[in-house]
Amino acid sequence: MSRILTGIQSTNIPHLGNILGAVLPAIELSKQAGNESLFFIADLHSLTTQKDASQRIQSVNSVAATWLAFDFDTEKNLLYRQSRIPEVCELTWYLSCFTPYPMLANAHSFKDKSGRLNEVYTGLFTYPVLMAADIILYDAEYVPVGKDQIQHIEITRDIAQKFNTQYNQDVFLLPQAKTDENVMIVPGTDGQKMSKSYNNFINIFLPEKELLKVIKTIITDTTPLEEPKNSSTCNVFKLYSLLANDTQIMEMQANYAKGGYGYGHAKTALYELILTKFERARTRYAELMNNPALIEKELQIGEAKARTMAQEKLKLVRSVLGF
Ligand code: ADP
Ligand code: TRP
Repeated sequence: MSRILTGIQSTNIPHLGNILGAVLPAIELSKQAGNESLFFIADLHSLTTQKDASQRIQSVNSVAATWLAFDFDTEKNLLYRQSRIPEVCELTWYLSCFTPYPMLANAHSFKDKSGRLNEVYTGLFTYPVLMAADIILYDAEYVPVGKDQIQHIEITRDIAQKFNTQYNQDVFLLPQAKTDENVMIVPGTDGQKMSKSYNNFINIFLPEKELLKVIKTIITDTTPLEEPKNSSTCNVFKLYSLLANDTQIMEMQANYAKGGYGYGHAKTALYELILTKFERARTRYAELMNNPALIEKELQIGEAKARTMAQEKLKLVRSVLGF
């Protein structure tokens, strides 16, 4: 059996890029027989950037509702809030005493982020230590992450190894990063990679009218309606083909090639496809967001299980350390 663990920062409503690039592939992986998935909402990490409490509650709920709306099986797997497992903070302190300072000072992500800030807080600096604690507290074997996070997994392995060597005991399992080379890059409304940082994202959970409005903002060229169009360079077509089946893709390609088919038509087709494809998830998401008690209940089930695992591991760590 493989134990898969990943953290999802709660800084916004997950967009179409997050859903196609991260949520759905992770749920697929969790369905494979023999896999056990621990997916948690990295709300402690989100404090490095998000200070507003009510926004935090809203984004934690919206991340949880997204996973649940896409049928993440919380019987077989765990979905929990990082902040509800206080053991992770205790372990972070222990690990910080085994983390060489230059390793954190030289981390790419810290250098990038701190370079852009006027004031750099210690939490940003120790971010990778908390991340290491997230992972090794549960003996995770595989950690699905984007390329930008690989260095953090290497740091995790280094810290775990240092600890094990110091006490001459395999207290922690060394995790492996799992990156998918073939992961699709979903374009945003402006054609760049869809990202909340570029404000070019599509929130598939928006009410119909607002969703259509966002889809209408997708940038296209100015080829007149009656002329043939190049589907391979068109953002609307790219987004459509990430969601459509082969027949639908071929039909749209033919429409582009024959002319008399405008970008407005293509946008309407994309909008309708989003509505049909995500009908169930949209309904379920709305139900959950209108009833946060349902989300709370699901999270608490995961948190009780995660806490038991965490307490067991910390008991060992404390005894090894002589506390
Ligand atoms: P954002 O760029 O909006 O801040 P994150 O960096 O929080 O998104 O990414 C969360 C997850 O979603 C990561 O696993 C990342 O690889 C995936 N992801 C984000 N944007 C895209 C995209 N445009 N296409 C595919 N996957 C994406
Ligand atoms: N740092 C990760 C990100 O920004 C989120 C995260 C926190 C995480 N803890 C983790 C990912 C543990 C994997 C494992 O995407």
